Amino acid sequence: MSFVFPTEDSIPEKYRTKPIHQKEYLLDGEIRIWEGESQIVKSPIFLNRNGKLEQVILGSYPNFDSKQSLLALDAAVKAYGHGTGVWPIATPKERIDAVRKFIELMKGKRDQIILLLMWEIGKTEKDATKEFERTIEYLIDTIESLQELETNSANYIKEGGLIAQIKRSPYGVVLCMGPFNYPLNETFCTLIPAILMGNTVVFKPAKYGVLLLQPLLECFQKAFPPGVINTVYGDGAKVISPIMESGKIDVFAFIGSSSTANLITKKHPKLNRLRSVLGLNAKNPAIVLPDTDLKTMVPEILSGSLAYNGQRCTALKILFVHKDILDEFTKLYLEEFSKWKAGMPWDKDVNFTPLPEEGKTKWLKELLDDATTQGAKILNPGGGEVTESFMFPAILSPVSPNSRLYHEEQFGPLVPIVPFSSIDEPLNYIFQSNMGQQASVFGKDPKTVGKLIDILVNQVARVNWNAQCQRGPDSFPFSGRKDSADGTLSVSDALRVFSIRTVVSFKDNEMGRNLLGEVLKERSSNYLSQEFHL
Ligand code: G3H
Repeated sequence: MSFVFPTEDSIPEKYRTKPIHQKEYLLDGEIRIWEGESQIVKSPIFLNRNGKLEQVILGSYPNFDSKQSLLALDAAVKAYGHGTGVWPIATPKERIDAVRKFIELMKGKRDQIILLLMWEIGKTEKDATKEFERTIEYLIDTIESLQELETNSANYIKEGGLIAQIKRSPYGVVLCMGPFNYPLNETFCTLIPAILMGNTVVFKPAKYGVLLLQPLLECFQKAFPPGVINTVYGDGAKVISPIMESGKIDVFAFIGSSSTANLITKKHPKLNRLRSVLGLNAKNPAIVLPDTDLKTMVPEILSGSLAYNGQRCTALKILFVHKDILDEFTKLYLEEFSKWKAGMPWDKDVNFTPLPEEGKTKWLKELLDDATTQGAKILNPGGGEVTESFMFPAILSPVSPNSRLYHEEQFGPLVPIVPFSSIDEPLNYIFQSNMGQQASVFGKDPKTVGKLIDILVNQVARVNWNAQCQRGPDSFPFSGRKDSADGTLSVSDALRVFSIRTVVSFKDNEMGRNLLGEVLKERSSNYLSQEFHL
């Protein structure tokens, strides 16, 4: 059962990678070279070299100091120019054209990015490809959504003796930080809408998945005016603290842990000025009712709990299974689980891969040991076996409320099963939980499920019926209650969270109408629409 890391020779040519020592960073429209300290990038993948396992060094990236990170902030502040900069003043069409150009340039980097997603965060080729394609699609949909928003706000409104136009305008400078599990997709789901709405950005990639963004630096540079995007790298405490303490950040867009979000937010001296768009911790439960169609639903639950080794914020992180069907459920779950394969990200049909976070397998082992001490059994052979960065998934039952795994977000390949006899048990769990992103309910009885849905929609932000929890489709609102999120993201919502509704109004009289006519004739305003039919 022990996990086998490959030898160098056994890696197919197409998947090999050479070290990348990134020195470049983007500042004020220029790709500059960092001469200071570097941060080594280790892959989650080890290689078997003469019987010894050695962690692959993928390269390095700049390790900024606080002085350097403040230069990025200055460039973004300058480009915004109190809203007078080229970018915040540009028309939506000009911004859309720039993003279109960026998309075309980004498509040219496809293979490089997919390969780096595999090596840097251990994503399978299939999932890495999906992440890239989904991101391109998201950007295209975002453009369409902005066009729709613009069309809908193009009309002038007559009300109370006034003529007005109501549109959306940028906030200012955005600090954008994405997560390691979707370093491309989730980062761009905030970064690009923020830019499209006319904000300027300081962008810090996640702790893992940094090098894969390097090929995009020149795409950013070619597509956007100077200062619209400025990159920072390095230790968060060192580089993010001074940026926040400056008080010059208007929007904080962050996907990661709620404790980190709190630490960063608190550093802002003018909290009322700061808007936050946060995607945080989650511990989404599945409630498996006695009449669940287990044959069809178990594969869905398995995928919900273990896709990408359980490293999705939306993963099913605790399974409440009714006692009457527990034996049948575990039998089918284990059968289905046995079809999933462990291996390298480039192996065909692979599911379980090494984990990128340093020290993660050790931490997961502690959670696992605590759960077994509290009475849980590991149901699958080899469950929880660790080989360096790889942990073979462990399916555990019955997991006690006294164990850490019952409460803490594992974000990894541990599947806690909690048998229940009364629906109050999973419901109390949800009521008491600090997290409230989503929940899944599996069952067929319309009365029972209908009632449960009414309760759950007041506890979480999305209830999935006979389906796993997930973010997609990207047109659906993605949010969370309690400690799980602040703000709502989706293709259209993201445009809203990065902009404020603004109004231009004037008296509905001859002078007002004439003056507007002059502005439109001269085309002296980008804000006021050219169509004026009243
Ligand atoms: O990590 C959290 C992601 O937003 C989950 O997205 O449900 O599409 O995997 P997903």
